[in-house]
Amino acid sequence: MLGEDGTSMHHAPLRYQSGFANHFESEALPGALPVGRNSPQRCPYGLYAEQFSATAFTAPRADNRRSWLYRIRPAAMHAPFEPYDDGGRLVSDFSTLATPPDPLRWNPLPLPAAPTDFVDGLVTWAGHGDAGVQAGAAVHLYAADRSMEQRSFCSADGELLIVPQLGRHRFVTELGVLEVEPQEIVVIPRGLRFRVELPDGAGRGYVCENHGAPFRLPDLGPIGANGLAHARDFLAPVAAYEDIDGPHQLVTKFMGRLWSAAMDHSPLDVVAWHGNCAPYKYDLRRFNAIGSISHDHPDPSIFLVLHAASDTPGTSAIDFVVFPPRILAMQDTFRPPWFHRNVASEFMGLIHGVYDAKAEGFLPGGASLHNCMTGHGPDAETFEKASRADLSQPDVIRDTMAFMFEARHVWRPTPRALASPLRQADYARCWQGLRRHFDPARR
Ligand SMILES: [Fe+2]
Repeated sequence: MLGEDGTSMHHAPLRYQSGFANHFESEALPGALPVGRNSPQRCPYGLYAEQFSATAFTAPRADNRRSWLYRIRPAAMHAPFEPYDDGGRLVSDFSTLATPPDPLRWNPLPLPAAPTDFVDGLVTWAGHGDAGVQAGAAVHLYAADRSMEQRSFCSADGELLIVPQLGRHRFVTELGVLEVEPQEIVVIPRGLRFRVELPDGAGRGYVCENHGAPFRLPDLGPIGANGLAHARDFLAPVAAYEDIDGPHQLVTKFMGRLWSAAMDHSPLDVVAWHGNCAPYKYDLRRFNAIGSISHDHPDPSIFLVLHAASDTPGTSAIDFVVFPPRILAMQDTFRPPWFHRNVASEFMGLIHGVYDAKAEGFLPGGASLHNCMTGHGPDAETFEKASRADLSQPDVIRDTMAFMFEARHVWRPTPRALASPLRQADYARCWQGLRRHFDPARR
């Protein structure tokens, strides 16, 4: 909903609160937050109190995510939900899909030919698990050419880690506004209502819909108290509300499908809130990359930004990893990532620039998938170059930002992804040109 001046209507300047899953509190009107209790008999300004919980009530304090919202009308005020036709773009049952063990790669989604907003631009590319039992995850891609208007979206199926790749994005949420640009990410808690505005007129990116435990910052172990992503660089919004009566459509993803309910007001009407269940953004350019300063290439876990825990200690359900600009100075070492096969499954995207382990074909906005035990690594051209590179000078890798949704379970590409004309049918050929160098007579 745009105001007369073309900007969104909200009642607080765009500001952020710093920290990661700390306790925040924010009010768009003075004194709107009750003091001393969460649900007083009568809230200030005639607001309704509503708890918003994304973890079990009894989750340990360090894992517990909940906020209290003070809003004009409770979230329950909407007409019955009806099925919303997603045109077959969304997939939630991955259990019966045939999953080839091949390495896969795709060109970027084109911008839509017909008017399309964020919701209608989502298309499921891969996934595993089951939203119904809150386990697993899905990867959706999106391309859109217009802002959401008079409608909002939420996923009861999972937390949304959104990686914009093209165009600025403005996330207008129940708890406030987050403005992001490519190389920043946004995480929207499970069930939080929001809309996406595209100030540049077009937007494209990647979504990891996390059905399981929420993303959190990793422990740093021997790295120490600093390094990787710093808590203070995670920014939550301040309270900002819309007091708008009029037709509104609430689109909810629930049990793998989209549903639509009519409302007669904007649901983004939270005047004040406190707690730690909040959307947040993070600028990937602030990531403090750590690496080897002697020899060998570290495991990609050294680039871990956020992880979602599984029920197995030390094994994440999902690791969100970035490959930012960095310097490679290792000696007597093949500097790019080595050839490898992992138990983990790697869905990669490129936000900006060139990824250093591939000479060509991995485009900004594109994606690649190397599933459990699928052999991969540098392509032939990169291997030949890195094997002969002058190591007396460091490699300064500039102007790049790649990321990985690295999952414990196999990412099962959807039939649409496998059949897509964007798929690079000849991708695996990038390794077929690797020359034989073996000579038993020459050590
Ligand atoms: Fe890999």
